[in-house]
Amino acid sequence: MASILVTCYSRTGKTKLLAEAIGRGAAEVAGMNVDVLAFNRVTASDFVRYDGIILGSPVYFGGVASEFKELIDDTTFVRGKLCGKVGAAFTTAGDRTGGKETAILSIVQAMLIHGMIVVGDPIANSEGNEEHSGGHYGLAADGQLNETDIEHGVNFGRYVAKIVARMAEEKSV
Ligand SMILES: Cc1cc2nc3c(=O)[nH]c(=O)nc-3n(C[C@H](O)[C@H](O)[C@H](O)COP(=O)(O)O)c2cc1C
Repeated sequence: MASILVTCYSRTGKTKLLAEAIGRGAAEVAGMNVDVLAFNRVTASDFVRYDGIILGSPVYFGGVASEFKELIDDTTFVRGKLCGKVGAAFTTAGDRTGGKETAILSIVQAMLIHGMIVVGDPIANSEGNEEHSGGHYGLAADGQLNETDIEHGVNFGRYVAKIVARMAEEKSV
């Protein structure tokens, strides 16, 4: 049994929609225990309990929201305890060229500093879904989210969860 935490900061609910989609996709993987937790219910010390951590923030001025950055900064208190965990990132933005990649990379940067194993969002990440327009470094959407964005969220969650499951299996051998 492996576990995944999905959480995000979300002021107007768009990033939260992606978090929920990611959670649904991750839960499709057999034996995966998935918690999609409200941002205000999560502290950095919760991260230690999970095999995979999927984090999201809206793009604020090309970076992450300050509220989200505060949570990231608090992970300094669990330094060393996140090594080898799987990490992945997602974001939403107002504009198509609004800074999604820079925001995602700043999340991924923190994960790498912790020694986490970061999973990106490939162009085609699920069987028969050749049109998946992945976020490259993580899942990204902009403007009003549509069904395709939600579907990408589900696919991304499933993809990350499959890797978490594989790694947990290796650990147990
Ligand atoms: C303070 C602030 C800064 C923002 N900066 C950007 C930005 O740099 N680029 C962009 O595309 N959207 C920007 N936006 C729009 C949000 O990223 C976008 O609406 C996002 O989807 C909101 O997510 P949420 O509904 O989860 O809160 C900004 C919004 C706020 C409130």
